[in-house]
Amino acid sequence: MKPLLIALALILAAPLPAHAHPSQPRDLRELAQRHGIKIGSAVDVAALRAEADYRKVLNREFNHVTAENAMKWESVEPQRGVYTWADADAVVENARRNRQQVRGHTLLWHNQLPAWLTSGVADGSIGAAELRSILRDHITTQVGRYKGKIRAWDVVNEVVEEDGTLRRSIWLTHLGPGYIADAFRWAHRADPRAKLFINDYNLEWNQPKIETTLSIVKDLQAEGVPIHGVGFQGHLGIQYDYPGDWANVMRRFADLGLEIAITELDVRMVLPVTPDKLATQADYYRRALTDCVSVRACEEMTLWGYTDRHSWVPGWFEGEGSACVMDENLAPKPAYHALLTVPRQRR
Ligand code: G3I
Repeated sequence: MKPLLIALALILAAPLPAHAHPSQPRDLRELAQRHGIKIGSAVDVAALRAEADYRKVLNREFNHVTAENAMKWESVEPQRGVYTWADADAVVENARRNRQQVRGHTLLWHNQLPAWLTSGVADGSIGAAELRSILRDHITTQVGRYKGKIRAWDVVNEVVEEDGTLRRSIWLTHLGPGYIADAFRWAHRADPRAKLFINDYNLEWNQPKIETTLSIVKDLQAEGVPIHGVGFQGHLGIQYDYPGDWANVMRRFADLGLEIAITELDVRMVLPVTPDKLATQADYYRRALTDCVSVRACEEMTLWGYTDRHSWVPGWFEGEGSACVMDENLAPKPAYHALLTVPRQRR
């Protein structure tokens, strides 16, 4: 072969780096656009304020955001009647400036409740009737404050136990199961245009949880309660199998007329990081997006943080980490590139 032909053959044979393929999206915003979905990240407010590089990448890559902690009850009302909206406002305002829609997280949960509330319930100084009106005021105040600025609210978070019974939270214990319908009705009254979600973890594969959540949705719908979507948190780990039936589970909820969202995706691993583990992680991220875009009702995929610099995982699972699509220096990992390769599906 002539040298010129050899050179040409070598050029053609060389694989393009994942991001350089001409028909491939450049970044996650373009990817979201291509699939016609929202791709979001949880936002760490301290980092948003203090780290210019974190802010820049967040605003470049994502068209949707969720406050990781700033909208939780303990954050917005640390003392009774004293509201601290600065952090939540910062997320909403940054989103507006950067053309990002917002998921509100979360109105009712059993964690990260303010101490005045949990101790008042525990010592009996807050009785059931008062607890119900506190919850109504909380939902009305918070949803009302952000009326028109929040696309979707996680109204109730993690209300089902692993065995499929209703979670024995202060809400169930003191208010009975009707608190779920109340929460949705109050939220809807405060912002009739916001999409209202039930959100949970392990809903990707835990059969008792799936069946109970489906029947909660059906009961709410039968009573005319406004519920519009289901959120699958998607906290995965490569030491566990990928939830292979996830798209079918999504379809069962979609068949009830619900919007589907993956609300908190991350894929952790047992440290140390190796190239093999990163490849497996990349495959899990790729499959999660593929599952979402294979279901017409799946309109959002949000990552629970986009960088290993700020991830809840190492603080919660000893010896585990590296769960995000970018490393501590905000360099894209194989998982980031794998997401960009997911082909568009006719939905
Ligand atoms: O704000 C305090 C700070 O004042 C204090 O100095 C510091 C010392 O530990 O703690 C800070 O609070 C931490 C808080 O995050 C804010 O950073 C808590 O310790 C920490 O426990 C808390 O963790 C959050 C966790 O929810 C609490 O349950 C994680 O950041 C957050 O990622 C995680 O998010 C949840 C979703 O809301 C629901 N689904 C599961 C998901 C992961 O657990």
